[in-house]
Amino acid sequence: MNAGVVTVSYIAASVLFILSLGGLAHQESARRGNLYGMMGMAIAVLFTFANPKLGSVGLLIPVMLVGGGLGAFVAARVKMTAMPQLVAGFHSFVGLAAVLEGIANYLDPSVQHASRAEMFIHETEIAVGVFIGAITFTGSLVAFGKLQGLIKSKPLALPGRHGMNFTAALLCIYLSSLFVGHPGAHTHLMPLLLMTVIACGLGAHLVLSIGGADMPVVVSMLNSYSGWAAAATGFMLSNDVLIVVGALVGSSGAILSYIMCRAMGRSFISVILGGFGVEAGTAVAASGPTEQGSVTSITVEETAVLLREAKSVIIVPGFGMAVAHAQHPVYELTRFLRERGCKVRFAIHPVAGRMPGHMNVLLAEAKVPYDIVLEMDEINPDFPSTDVAIVLGANDTVNSGAQDDPSSPIYGMPVVECWKAGTVIVSKRSMATGYSGVDNPLFYKDNARMLFGDARKTVEAVFVAISAL
Ligand code: TAP
Repeated sequence: MNAGVVTVSYIAASVLFILSLGGLAHQESARRGNLYGMMGMAIAVLFTFANPKLGSVGLLIPVMLVGGGLGAFVAARVKMTAMPQLVAGFHSFVGLAAVLEGIANYLDPSVQHASRAEMFIHETEIAVGVFIGAITFTGSLVAFGKLQGLIKSKPLALPGRHGMNFTAALLCIYLSSLFVGHPGAHTHLMPLLLMTVIACGLGAHLVLSIGGADMPVVVSMLNSYSGWAAAATGFMLSNDVLIVVGALVGSSGAILSYIMCRAMGRSFISVILGGFGVEAGTAVAASGPTEQGSVTSITVEETAVLLREAKSVIIVPGFGMAVAHAQHPVYELTRFLRERGCKVRFAIHPVAGRMPGHMNVLLAEAKVPYDIVLEMDEINPDFPSTDVAIVLGANDTVNSGAQDDPSSPIYGMPVVECWKAGTVIVSKRSMATGYSGVDNPLFYKDNARMLFGDARKTVEAVFVAISAL
């Protein structure tokens, strides 16, 4: 097929990928966004077969069938909670592919350079692609191991680890200079291979130095690295679609990591540089619960009466809602209240739950309308004019100490300001802390009421009680 047709199809695929990202920015359009992405990928793969430069199609088809089949098999079986490690596993393949592609391209005798400058540029692309690919490969493998519980989540704090990382990075630059742009191309393989080994070690060490609590940010960061590795491979192969897709994945992954770091009160630089500037590289220090006064409990019946009187309610879901699978009964209750004229909305913290968009996915699954699900920043100003806030299995994301206790390990982390509502009802099983291990002063506030019990059973009971009133 004409090379021009392939180029046009790659542009079409690139446009579809951009539309896909745009679609994924909102829940209402996420399905459409996914569809655009699938169409873009189908076009990119299909027209790659039509590429006149393509060699052995006979080998490509069985390899694609095996890889595609395995990917579909694993993805169909993975539990929602195991999604981060699946993503980490997939990233490791992107990194490995970039490494192998770079080395193969360096050895390929058919790659000819018109000038020394061209050779220099091409081999620099190989060096960059292999370097980022190797870091992504081993970093993702370690992230997978930590998330799956195969490797201890405690950060490995070797003495002088930042110096080691710095030396490894310098060595990689030096070894790259030994094989980039030298005449007699394809003959300086040893420095390239040595650089690959050191970059693999660096990737593993960087992620080993990061605590399990920061792993979701690391996975998102590795997602970004895998994008840049793909973009470098795209430059090396002069493949436009790979460059565009790599840059899209690289930049969106970096932006997501930054947003997650801000929402968790973590330093972005510290996380990506393997806990740089933080002694242990862990998440917020686990201070353990401390007594802060007495809490006031509330019964299911009292909750039902409060809700019946309320004109406006904001529900703040958290990890406990996911554990209890309480999204369906909570939507039943929401529908009931809305039918009686109560304004009910949901407040979503960017890192509520255990992965980006965790709460949004669960609420969408329960068919909660998108327009009543609001981001923390949008809804925080509305709490003072809200009658009742219900905290459903959330803890760190509603920790008032993050705003008014400078000694709190999570001081400064943005939180959902539910305590500003008339009454705040906290549904959880005990006084246990959340993910960060930090006690929550919210529970001791005058307008806070603790509704102890499993979130699902509690919401079901409240629904029965309010229906009977
Ligand atoms: P958490 O602070 O983890 O608190 C969840 C609360 O749910 C716990 O205090 C627990 O208390 C309660 N709970 C557990 N099972 C329950 C059940 N069956 N019924 C009722 N309650 C139950 O949750 P959050 O507010 O969603 O905050 C998320 C935390 O995870 C943040 O610290 C965040 O930084 C971290 N994190 C988030 C992400 C992403 S990307 N979302 C990634 C990594 C880490 P009881 O045991 O007393 O019931």
